[in-house]
Amino acid sequence: MTSKGGGTGFQHYRFRHRALPEIDYAAIDTSTNFVGRAIKVPLMISSMTGGTEEAARINIKLAEAAEKRGWAMGLGSLRAAIEQPATAASYQVRTYAPNVPLIANIGAVQLNYGFGIEQCRRAVELSDADALVLHLNGLQEVFQEGGNSNFGGLLRKIEQLCKVAEFPVGVKEVGWGIDGVTARALKEAGVSFIDVAGSGGTSWSQVEKFRSTNNLSKAAAEAFADWGTPTAQCVVEVSEAATDTYLIASGGLVSGVDAAKAIALGANMASFGRALLAPAVHSEAELNQLLERLELELRIAMFGIGAANLQELHRTNRIVQLRAE
Ligand SMILES: Cc1cc2nc3c(=O)[nH]c(=O)nc-3n(C[C@H](O)[C@H](O)[C@H](O)COP(=O)(O)O)c2cc1C
Repeated sequence: MTSKGGGTGFQHYRFRHRALPEIDYAAIDTSTNFVGRAIKVPLMISSMTGGTEEAARINIKLAEAAEKRGWAMGLGSLRAAIEQPATAASYQVRTYAPNVPLIANIGAVQLNYGFGIEQCRRAVELSDADALVLHLNGLQEVFQEGGNSNFGGLLRKIEQLCKVAEFPVGVKEVGWGIDGVTARALKEAGVSFIDVAGSGGTSWSQVEKFRSTNNLSKAAAEAFADWGTPTAQCVVEVSEAATDTYLIASGGLVSGVDAAKAIALGANMASFGRALLAPAVHSEAELNQLLERLELELRIAMFGIGAANLQELHRTNRIVQLRAE
């Protein structure tokens, strides 16, 4: 997946180093909870794949790594599993990750194309997930040939779903970001968590540019290469606009320092997509090493500012925004 444009925005923030942290590095506590399950770190594997045999292999590797390291995990869109039940097995990773917060995924726009509570329930049940996240991918659907681009009236349908669902319902973007105004509307609609999936990482207009066979769409996608709200800005806006809604930061995160900055700016958890994909395809060892490195960087960043736990890192005053050059 390609990315282009101004980055995640985290490069404009810097931690104020604390030479005398007054805490024991070995005692730093990164444990937290998500959708009713305890996790060792406030880190998550973003929704990516499912539907094919190759996807099943990747999902198993991701699930085993999440279980081993105490991460949360999102599954790729389960639309395929609902429409073609033969593909359902590629999402069934619960036996590999019995303790992991596991999140089922469906495009919110499907609520305008025949999906309702029944299909959402099936997605959660067949993956034995703890929650459902609805993804918002308006531009992607427009650039896709034959995409589902009627996004009218979705907020009300999300609200209705939240009212009847027996499981937590969250909402995420896919790389263009969720701003404060949208977050407030989603909070009022009753969503349990929001994953901003801001710009600076995976750019779906670029992906569709390469995938599309329609020359007009390809040409138009170029103009949207740097579209979207940078992840850091989303986190700041959403944490102010939708206080008390569990906030996940994702979109272009590549290090544990990025994760620490996201939590410092108001997120409860940080999530990684594309950065984990190649290691997950290559080898289990490579994937485990990367997760371990991200955790280490998060803990060192916490030590560097003297934060003994996530409460002390969350909204710390030891992060400063750099002035524009
Ligand atoms: C290969 C790939 C497949 C993805 N598939 C989905 C998906 O099925 N559902 C979804 O909500 N997001 C999907 N995403 C978006 C990610 O969950 C994430 O929001 C986005 O990639 C931003 O994070 P990143 O910049 O770390 O990749 C996908 C991303 C990648 C790279």
